[in-house]
Amino acid sequence: MLDHLKANNRAWAERKIAADAGFFHRLESQQAPEYLWIGCSDSRVPANEIVDLDPGELFVHRNVANLAPPQDANYLSVLQFAVDVIKVKHIMVVGHYGCGGVSAAVDGKRRGLVDHWLHPIREIAHEHHHELEAIPDVRVRLDRLCELNVMRQVRNVSHDVFVQDAWARGQEIHVHGWVYSIANGLVTDLNVTVSGPDEASYSLPR
Ligand code: CO
Repeated sequence: MLDHLKANNRAWAERKIAADAGFFHRLESQQAPEYLWIGCSDSRVPANEIVDLDPGELFVHRNVANLAPPQDANYLSVLQFAVDVIKVKHIMVVGHYGCGGVSAAVDGKRRGLVDHWLHPIREIAHEHHHELEAIPDVRVRLDRLCELNVMRQVRNVSHDVFVQDAWARGQEIHVHGWVYSIANGLVTDLNVTVSGPDEASYSLPR
């Protein structure tokens, strides 16, 4: 079963070795990516391909609608490993226009567990309902919700104690918010980058 995928894999590995004989050997010893990508599971948004990076260059976490929920052990484990062990310099939350997860969050249909997963997006939509309701075109409105969701997840990441503690230790980390367009393959930087605790949150002096 899946012979075509196994054949693809063998051909891919051969091409890699043909271009660079030591490619896999070097990766075996360590990974030292500078970037953590938090993106949507959508098959049309393949992280490495979009930014044209090789294996070893991008640490990736993907879930439905690119969420960074502060109670999700999977996301938190990835974040802590990326920050404390790999010491990535950049974390990009990457949403995408036309995200099915974002539209499912607000279309009123019931799907089961995923409705709970998408709950944070309904909250974002509620908080921004004046702005969103002023957009007459439904697709444009949902695309704006995709952007607002990215901005909120950037805030979640930058407020996280792993990231806050890394900044307090003097570690360099920039948290970026991007949106990808499936229609043209281009990433837009939402220019909401957070690079230190002063920009991220309020806390009482220790
Ligand atoms: Co999506």
